[in-house]
Amino acid sequence: MPDLSDFELLLSGGADYGFMCASCHLAPGQKESDMSLGLYPAPPNLSITDEENIKHNGNDKFTQARNFWIIKHGIKASGMPAWGKTHDDQRIWAMVAFLEGLPALTPEQYQILTAVD
Ligand code: HEC
Repeated sequence: MPDLSDFELLLSGGADYGFMCASCHLAPGQKESDMSLGLYPAPPNLSITDEENIKHNGNDKFTQARNFWIIKHGIKASGMPAWGKTHDDQRIWAMVAFLEGLPALTPEQYQILTAVD
């Protein structure tokens, strides 16, 4: 597992999250989307903290490893795709790092971190 507190790694995951994940898993300040309402099982809102949602970003090694596995392999018979077919491990770890910081971001910070340069 790479050092997930590495800010460069987190930064490199932002654009991928905005492009590939936010349509289902939402962004700071956003309450719902067509996908979050339309899919069953519903995609959890990954932009809010554990206290507000089910456990997804416990900020411990187990949760981080679990998130990596889920992003890489997807969740069978749900809307969650397997991103490992098209993205290498480094990019997936970057998204795991981004998820750690995501609930603390304001909508403005989110805009900056997900902007593609
Ligand atoms: C088309 C909608 C969709 C997209 C796009 C999507 N997901 Fe998901 N994701 C889901 C659904 C639905 C679930 C929950 C499946 C279930 O409960 O069985 C899920 C579950 C997850 C979980 C597990 C949450 C938990 O703790 O239970 C993580 C982590 C996750 N997705 C990350 C991502 C990331 C990162 C991306 C972008 C690379 C992404 N997802 C893109 C639909 C999506």
